[in-house]
Amino acid sequence: SSNQMWGGRFASGPASIMEEINASIGFDKKLYAQDIRGSIAHATMLAQQGIISAEDKDKIVHGLNTILSEIEAGAFEFSRRLEDIHMNIEARLAALIGPAAGRLHTARSRNDQVALDFRLWVKEELQKADAALTALIAAFLDRAEEHAETVMPGFTHLQTAQPVTFGHHCMAYVEMFGRDRARVRHAIEHMDESPIGAAALAGTGFPIDRHMTARALGFREPTRNSIDTVSDRDFALEFLAIAAIAATHLSRLAEEIVIWSTPQFGFIRLSDAFSTGSSIMPQKKNPDAAELVRAKTGRVNGSLIALLTVMKGLPLAYSKDMQEDKEQVFDAAESLELAIAAMTGMVRDLTVRADRMKSAAGSGYSTATDLADWLVREAGLPFRDAHHVTGRVVALAEEKECDLADLPLGELQAIHSAITDKVFGVLTVEASVASRTSFGGTAPSEVRKQIAWWRARD
Ligand code: ARG
Repeated sequence: SSNQMWGGRFASGPASIMEEINASIGFDKKLYAQDIRGSIAHATMLAQQGIISAEDKDKIVHGLNTILSEIEAGAFEFSRRLEDIHMNIEARLAALIGPAAGRLHTARSRNDQVALDFRLWVKEELQKADAALTALIAAFLDRAEEHAETVMPGFTHLQTAQPVTFGHHCMAYVEMFGRDRARVRHAIEHMDESPIGAAALAGTGFPIDRHMTARALGFREPTRNSIDTVSDRDFALEFLAIAAIAATHLSRLAEEIVIWSTPQFGFIRLSDAFSTGSSIMPQKKNPDAAELVRAKTGRVNGSLIALLTVMKGLPLAYSKDMQEDKEQVFDAAESLELAIAAMTGMVRDLTVRADRMKSAAGSGYSTATDLADWLVREAGLPFRDAHHVTGRVVALAEEKECDLADLPLGELQAIHSAITDKVFGVLTVEASVASRTSFGGTAPSEVRKQIAWWRARD
């Protein structure tokens, strides 16, 4: 038999393989709440505009609320024959209330309906991401405050560069996740326009009130172009792009956690709650959660590329290709939520091994730049000359297999006569860190200012 929603001109029903490739109910059932909310707003508007009767509207609204409880109670039977969530709900509505159900789809198409449902879903997901990122930032702010003076090596090329503090390093992630939050809030603003009422693509001749439905559904205003409205999936792409950038940040953090928790680095100890053991090697404690966060990034990036590729050659307006938008977004959203939550837990629970960080910070001649800066300041050397002199000092220390601070003054003076014993004051990692008071620098005083700045934001 042909489809009861659009089968008027069809003599026979779809081939089974057609049904299989065409149906989206397997995944778009996730949109049931948005679909029902949208239909209630639409029916209410239709009645207010005199397009349907108040009695029919009441029946429709009552029926939709019944369906909502049925789905939430797990008592709703989804059917692949009915393709998608929109037609599954409408068919059930017809079974519940009879012919009045057929009036709900007046001045509406599944094209604006799905654009609405999906936009509502993505908007809610962005709000969840905003809250999750806020919790992650809060975890970092607490750890940063606690470790504003904990010295660790800073790296470039993963080679020891200059001493920094763990608090400062935490605040780098606060900046990254803070930008992610800003992108999330901006995207919410961007997509805060209601698609419903665009109909199939051309709008409708019925005297609908799109401002009313926009308001009822919590949108700032209706979209302005009906063709764009049913063609547009920018809101989904924007979500995926934001998710991919946030996931990249999470992945870099995951990578650092993996490295820091090795016995070789030993900068942190992961809590038992966020690690696993080995079934053969009794000594092992593996950072599986961090590794999985790192891997989820691959999925999220894949989703972004998949949807960009789906959209790139589509003519206006709707094409069925666009049905493939949802699984990408659902999967990325689930991965991102999980990754942020796992990271928040790991950051809160991890033990900082300050002694290990500090001794690592002092190795690898990390204060060589401080020595060069001292030569500029105290002996008036041009920086390039100071760099050269310091290079010779480092070579000497390497030859003697000792730290810069352990070199005898006489041998330093043989390299450059302007060096005095005052130089030893700048060669400790604490002095190095404390000296970097430039705006945004690693000095504890500066890091505390940055923490206060973030704490004062909402
Ligand atoms: N299930 C469809 C989707 O997700 C709904 C829109 C169908 N529109 C249409 N003209 N066939 O895209």
